[in-house]
Amino acid sequence: MIFKHFNEEVSAFMARDPAARSRLEVILCYPGFHALVFYRMTHFLWGLGLKVFARWLSQVGKFLTGVEIHPAAAIGRRFVIDHGDGVVIGETSEIGDDVTVYQGVTLGGVSPSVDSRAQVNLKRHPTLNDGAIIGSGAQILGPITIGEGARIGANAVVHRDVPAGVTAVGIPARVVMPRDKDKAGQFVAYGEPAEGCPDPVLRTIESLRGQVAALIEKVDELESRLEDLKPASEAEEKKTIVSVGE
Ligand SMILES: CC(C)(COP(=O)(O)OP(=O)(O)OC[C@H]1O[C@@H](n2cnc3c(N)ncnc32)[C@H](O)[C@@H]1OP(=O)(O)O)[C@@H](O)C(=O)NCCC(=O)NCCS
Repeated sequence: MIFKHFNEEVSAFMARDPAARSRLEVILCYPGFHALVFYRMTHFLWGLGLKVFARWLSQVGKFLTGVEIHPAAAIGRRFVIDHGDGVVIGETSEIGDDVTVYQGVTLGGVSPSVDSRAQVNLKRHPTLNDGAIIGSGAQILGPITIGEGARIGANAVVHRDVPAGVTAVGIPARVVMPRDKDKAGQFVAYGEPAEGCPDPVLRTIESLRGQVAALIEKVDELESRLEDLKPASEAEEKKTIVSVGE
């Protein structure tokens, strides 16, 4: 029951890692795959209410694979962790189907974990929608959503939602180029277009489109901040007029 998708998970590693030569190689040599097997077991135990045992087994998995996945995280089908080392997936993370993450990725929290009055764990980790690809070392922080098929560059720090199908890079992450629509739904190893976009002018235009989208988002945010500041500055203005009048 826990391993009902075992075969398709091996196939996912085969399909997404150009270095994987056989199913046996994936089963024997891929710490990311071993981490997923541990997670499937610990998630099952967590669901049965054996929480301490689940956490303990999860730590054994971390010791052996270098990947820490909280048993309560919700992970969909055909999840691939390539290389694995240093990946941390927090308790309230949600991961859709066909998601790929590389080594050193954190799905982390930025706010306190428990609503002390209700005594329930709040959502504080990210949601990765179907087909997202998260480059090595990327830090995805807070209860944000990475849209379907979005690509996050290596070492990016992401603390805001990323729309579906775009590429976000840097610290803090910014959108650089909408994903090639023709390739939507296809996995591209390392998040790079397989044949590249042959036309450099088209690449530049696409990059500019992404940057304009990011700028619009920034201007909207600044406008709303300005709105928040208005009452205070108007009151201050009135005070100044009054004191000048006096
Ligand atoms: C983000 C990524 C998917 C983009 O690939 P791409 O579509 O080919 O995009 P490009 O290389 O044309 O880059 C587009 C822009 O983003 C910048 N960029 C790309 N990756 C970046 C990164 N990780 N950090 C900062 N900037 C980056 C480029 O310099 C370029 O900027 P410009 O438009 O100002 O020239 C890819 O660069 C990446 O980081 N993939 C993850 C790979 C990985 O983790 N490999 C581990 C294997 S073990």
